[in-house]
Amino acid sequence: MFRDVSSCNTYNYGDALYWDSRYIQEAGGAFDWYQRYSSLRPFVRLYVPTSSRVLMVGCGNALISEDMVKDGYEDIMNIDISSVAIDMMRRKYEFVPQLKYMQMDVRDMSFFPDESFDSVIDKGTLDSLMCGTDAPISATRMLGEVSRLLKPGGIYMLITYGDPTARMPHLNRPAYSWNILLYNLPRPDFKRPGGGSSTKSYMEPIPITEKGTLPADFVLEDPDSHFIYVCKKGG
Ligand SMILES: C[S@@+](CC[C@H](N)C(=O)[O-])C[C@H]1O[C@@H](n2cnc3c(N)ncnc32)[C@H](O)[C@@H]1O
Repeated sequence: MFRDVSSCNTYNYGDALYWDSRYIQEAGGAFDWYQRYSSLRPFVRLYVPTSSRVLMVGCGNALISEDMVKDGYEDIMNIDISSVAIDMMRRKYEFVPQLKYMQMDVRDMSFFPDESFDSVIDKGTLDSLMCGTDAPISATRMLGEVSRLLKPGGIYMLITYGDPTARMPHLNRPAYSWNILLYNLPRPDFKRPGGGSSTKSYMEPIPITEKGTLPADFVLEDPDSHFIYVCKKGG
């Protein structure tokens, strides 16, 4: 798992060749980064209607799209830079008409016309690009494409390890005019030290400060938790 930028130096997450060789090694396997659909479901169901046309960016060999179809989602386009992952997933889901797979770089999705999707879901893909060379340029290209592809009122849901200090400068560009809500989701197996229970609801958005940071009184209960940014396109 890559939790912080130090692991970027250990693995070439920003490099397509890294992902191809990883998916060759994992042949036929399935792996969901960060969290499974079961724990993300409350957020997905709240913001992404089942009738949405969904784009899953950097799908890898994760089960989230299959789980969403089992939950009623009708139309999910999955893309990944790794042709190994895409070939494998296309074969696996040949008879699932709700799932489509295409090899594509998120930094150039010109195959799709403007405003093609109601929702874009990103679990760990912006994070991968942030490990690559020219990370800020890659992030700007990717997010510009995501913004272009969203319909007015559409949702970009980013599931990431990146806290607002690292992610808000990229998400908050006026060109996108996104209204952003932030959530923090502990790992499903997280246990508080001492075992006490919390009164905190993870479905309660965290107020982001004007500087784009976490509020001073915010307590990160689980250091291995994930952040969910729900970015709604204006208009
Ligand atoms: C951390 S994995 C996450 C996979 C999956 N979303 C999940 O939740 O398990 C990042 C994925 O992004 C893909 N990826 C990396 N750079 C990409 C790019 N420029 N365009 C499209 N996909 C990319 C990788 O091949 C990999 O499958």
